[in-house]
Amino acid sequence: MPALLPCLPVSYSFRRYRTTVTQRRLLLVNGPNLNLLGTRQPEVYGSTTLAEIEARAAEVAAESGLQVRSVQSNHEGVLVDAIHAARADCAGIVINPAAYSHTSVAIADALRSVGLPVAEVHLSNIHAREEFRHHSYVSAVADMVVAGAGPLGYDMAVRYLASRLSQ
Ligand code: DQA
Repeated sequence: MPALLPCLPVSYSFRRYRTTVTQRRLLLVNGPNLNLLGTRQPEVYGSTTLAEIEARAAEVAAESGLQVRSVQSNHEGVLVDAIHAARADCAGIVINPAAYSHTSVAIADALRSVGLPVAEVHLSNIHAREEFRHHSYVSAVADMVVAGAGPLGYDMAVRYLASRLSQ
């Protein structure tokens, strides 16, 4: 799980007697089966690979002076742990929870618990697909949701968080 390696914070500030970290980093989370992007149902998810999506997110974030830590897992608990870890050194979370969008109270609660701004991404338009995809537990926690824009959705999510963080 190389994506879970801790990263050093960039700078520190003091607020209310407690050390907080002035973060310049986003966590990019991709859920189950997204490791297969590029070959997985290309008619639905396109031909862009996860590595390309992660590299592009890092590029877009860098335009705003932000770094990105990327994690992909097919295991719910690993995703929950990665979200918890973001509390220490990230300023926002971009997440495509994939199938867990529609089932996971645990991931939604983890996002709620860390209290960071959240941008939810779906490559496909989940509202135009099967009924069971229409509801996402994560959307109730997300500050913005983009669905159906393909890989461009990740750019939009990163830019949204960068703009929020610059305010
Ligand atoms: C997805 C949509 C989900 O319904 C599906 O389970 C995925 C990917 C998307 O990016 O369109 O795995 O989140």
